[in-house]
Amino acid sequence: MFGKKEVSSTSDAKLDLNRIPNHIAIIMDGNGRWAQKRHLPRVAGHKQGMQTVKTVTIAASELGVKVLSLYAFSTENWKRPSSEVNYLMQLPIKFFSTFVPDLVKHNVRVTVMGDITKLPQGTQKAVNDAIADTADCTGMILNFALNYGSRDEIVRATKQIASKVLAGEISTEQINEQLLSENMMSSRLGPFADPDLLIRTSGEERISNFMLWQIAYSELEFTDVYWPDFDRHSLETAIINFQSRHRRYGGLKNN
Ligand code: FPP
Repeated sequence: MFGKKEVSSTSDAKLDLNRIPNHIAIIMDGNGRWAQKRHLPRVAGHKQGMQTVKTVTIAASELGVKVLSLYAFSTENWKRPSSEVNYLMQLPIKFFSTFVPDLVKHNVRVTVMGDITKLPQGTQKAVNDAIADTADCTGMILNFALNYGSRDEIVRATKQIASKVLAGEISTEQINEQLLSENMMSSRLGPFADPDLLIRTSGEERISNFMLWQIAYSELEFTDVYWPDFDRHSLETAIINFQSRHRRYGGLKNN
């Protein structure tokens, strides 16, 4: 009725369960436009978007994804009207209050990137409780980017490294890509810190300050589907498209 946009696969290929990307990162976009199309307030889109987070988390975990990173609130999102910011700050509370048992059931561990100390106390508590309640889960990592900005992350990493140099703990010669990665907020994702696949919904084709360091060799997938309409089928289609790509990491195709 509202003309839900379909994600199209670039081929007739089927999903190969043996080649599921280890780390999928998603820029969840289009909540506002989804709501506007239905003559609803923008926050209705965010509310429905939260349901999509649940659906996609379960789907990704069942498909064998190791890390799912979701861009939930950027360092730039504070510029939105305070009523919308306040609503977005309540979402993690709503989400975790109903969803932690499902996360535990699916063996999903919650982690966060971003400066959550700037979030309201109740939001911080909900996030920290979810991290603690799922700490023993050994399956997929659900990695929320909250008050996260990639440039901010790089600046923080640079400061940390500079302090170590000033303290004489390391020399400038020891600064390399691995050291930078170890000082990024994504370092707690271990061997899967770099996304294999980055998806952005809603037809926008921008990175918007998300995991700039980590996506150096990620495959990018842009779909017209608004985030509240994104579902298991959309995720599988994005993965099928990913599986049709030839990742070369700057080298040559070997077939
Ligand atoms: C972008 O859509 C979306 C956001 C800034 C917020 C994303 C948040 C969620 C999907 C819910 C998060 C859930 C949890 C559990 C934290 P937009 O508002 O920019 O959409 P528009 O471009 O159509 O206006």
